[in-house]
Amino acid sequence: MDKETVLNGAAGGQQIPPMEPQRQFYFIERARELVRKKTEEKGRRLTFHVETFGCQMNARDSEKLAGILEAAGFAQEPSEAADFVIYNTCTVRENANNKVYGRLGYLQNLKKKNPDMRIALCGCMMQEKEAVAKLKQSYRYVNLIFGTHNLYKFAELLVAAYESDKMVVDVWEEGREIVEDLPVERKYPFKSGVNIMFGCNNFCSYCIVPYVRGREKSREPEDILNEVRRLADDGVVEVMLLGQNVNSYGKTLKTPVSFAQLLEETERVEGIERIRFMTSHPKDLSDELIRTMARSGKICRHLHLPLQSGSSRILKLMNRQYDKEGYLRLVEKVRAAMPDIALTTDIIVGFPGETEEDFLETMDVVQKAQFDSAYTFIYSRRTGTPAAEMDGQAPEDIIKDRFDRLLAQVQEIAAQKAERLTGTLQQVLVESVNSHDASFVTGRMDNNATVHLPGDASLIGRIVPVRLTECKGFYYYGRLV
Ligand code: 5AD
Ligand code: SF4
Repeated sequence: MDKETVLNGAAGGQQIPPMEPQRQFYFIERARELVRKKTEEKGRRLTFHVETFGCQMNARDSEKLAGILEAAGFAQEPSEAADFVIYNTCTVRENANNKVYGRLGYLQNLKKKNPDMRIALCGCMMQEKEAVAKLKQSYRYVNLIFGTHNLYKFAELLVAAYESDKMVVDVWEEGREIVEDLPVERKYPFKSGVNIMFGCNNFCSYCIVPYVRGREKSREPEDILNEVRRLADDGVVEVMLLGQNVNSYGKTLKTPVSFAQLLEETERVEGIERIRFMTSHPKDLSDELIRTMARSGKICRHLHLPLQSGSSRILKLMNRQYDKEGYLRLVEKVRAAMPDIALTTDIIVGFPGETEEDFLETMDVVQKAQFDSAYTFIYSRRTGTPAAEMDGQAPEDIIKDRFDRLLAQVQEIAAQKAERLTGTLQQVLVESVNSHDASFVTGRMDNNATVHLPGDASLIGRIVPVRLTECKGFYYYGRLV
C-alpha cells in the first residue's frame, strides 16, 4: 500500500486540505489523536528522539521535526530509547553514511524491546538511490524514509508511518515549494538558525550537496524578516542566517535582493543583537557585503570562507571559480576592512590528482591567510559527482601524511592567533552551564570562540562583558567584569 492510499483510506471520509500549510496542520491533528490513543493504551506519554548528523542546515531541519513531534503530543527523550526515533542524515562524506548504518543496528535492538517503536530516516543520505535501495533490502525494520524536499510534509508522513504496517518511502527528486509557518522547537531559547535559502547551484566537482539538496531557492525577504521578528519577540538575541551559499542569496527572486541588503534589514529588527551567517562562497563575496559587515554593530566579526585547496590547478578541477591569488586578495580586502575579524575555513586534502606541489600551495595559503580555525577533511569519493570519475588520487598513506601536516599547521596558527586576545575585554553570549563544572558557564564571543567563566544559570541568554584571563588553545577562561 502506498502512502496516499494509507492516508486517504484512514481519513474516514474527511476532507484533507489540499493546500499547505493547512494540510500539515490537519495531519498534526490526526497525529495528536493517534498519540492520545497510544498514550492511553500504554499508560504513559509517547517519546521521541531526533538525532542530527551533519551541518547547521540539518540542525535547523531537526528543530522543525521536533516542532511537529511536540505539536503531535510526543515528549522529547534525550536517549534513543524512545517510541519515535528519527535520524536526520548527512551524506557529504562517506563516513557520514557509515555512521548511520552502524547505529541502525543499535536501534534494531531497541525495537526488539519496544516493538511498537517507529524508526524514521530523513535528510541528505535519503536522496541517494543506492542508500534507499540498501535500506529497503537489508533494514526492513525502518518504518519511514523521506528526503530533503518534502520535510515540510513530516506530519503527514508521521501519520502514514503509524497507520501503515509497511515501510513508507517518500523521496522527491526536486523541491516543489517552500512551505512557511510550520511549528519549530528551538534547541536554544536565545539563539536560532534561520534558513534564507535552500539548495546549491555551484556544483563543486567533489560535492554531493547540489544533487541531494537541489537547485538554489531563496526565501522571500519578508518571510525571513517576519520569522526574525517573531524570534526576537520570543527572546532570541542571536540569529544565524543559513544557506549553502549565502552570498548568492536573492539572485533568483522575482524582485532580486542582495545578501547585504537582507543583512541590513535583519539588523533593523529590534531585540536582535547578533547576526551570523553560514556559508560564504569566495566567488560571490561582494564588496557591498564587506562594507555592510564593516559598518555593522550587529553582524559578528566572523567569516567562514571555505578555501578547499590552495592550488589554482586543483581549484579549477574542483570548479571553485577562483584561484589562489584571488582568494588571498579577498582575505586581504576583508582584513583591511575589519582587522579584528575571525576568519575560518574548510580544506580538503587528497582531491584526485593532488600532488605534493599542490598540497604545498594549500599550506602556503594557510600560512598567509592566518585562519583562526579550519575544518580539514580527507577527500571522500561521492558517486555521481564529476570528481568521482577523476583519477590520479595519491595513496592513502600519503594523503594521511598531508592531512597530519596540514592539521598541525592549522592548529599552530590558530593557537597563536587565539593567544593574542588574552587580556582583552569581549562581549560573550552565555549559552549553558558548564558540563564539567557547574560553578562555570560557557558562552561564545563575537568571533565565535568559546569562553568558560564563573557564573550560574541566570546568565544564560545574556550578552555580558568578559575579561579573557587565559587562553587554552582554541578556548578561553574569563571573568565577568
Ligand atoms: N570530501 C571531503 N570533503 C568534502 N566536503 C564537501 N564534499 C566533500 C567531499 N566529497 C567538505 C567541503 C565543504 C564542507 C562542508 O565539507 O570542505 O566546505
Ligand atoms: Fe557543495 Fe560547493 Fe555547493 Fe558548498 S558551494 S554545497 S561545496 S557544491
